[in-house]
Amino acid sequence: MTLTLNVNGKDVSIDTEPDTPLLWALRHLLNLTGTKFGCGMALCGACTVYLDGAPSRSCTTPVSAAVGRKVTTIEGLAGPTADAVRRAWLEVDVVQCGYCQSGQILAATALLATNPKPTDADIDAAMSGNLCRCGTYPRIRQAIRAAAESLKA
Ligand code: FES
Ligand code: FES
Repeated sequence: MTLTLNVNGKDVSIDTEPDTPLLWALRHLLNLTGTKFGCGMALCGACTVYLDGAPSRSCTTPVSAAVGRKVTTIEGLAGPTADAVRRAWLEVDVVQCGYCQSGQILAATALLATNPKPTDADIDAAMSGNLCRCGTYPRIRQAIRAAAESLKA
């Protein structure tokens, strides 16, 4: 069936089954491959996107559940907070293999959008659902602290 989604600010129509995971609709039908498949069971955060601004697991979200909502992927993540996060990620050189990093950046940006001065405990709590097999956690924390500082300045 034809479904219309709003992805990164644009309405797009796709032909798929309503129970297709949003992740596959984004990657296979819309070619937005920045969103990654990790576990497929809402456990790792690699597939994180925003639904109406809130981080969500696209691997376990049926595409029909995204109809009428605003979907934001790493390709469409924009604004001063996202810019500060991206800059800090580069300054701190967070990335190792990169596979988890779209999800990490989306989660970090969502954290700073709601809590511009997070404590280390706040950071750990907000980021605990985003796993990194390369163990970049210390640099992720450092980059979030740096982004928070730059947003304050
Ligand atoms: S792929 Fe969705 S949470 Fe792991
Ligand atoms: S940078 Fe490799 S999994 Fe996180």
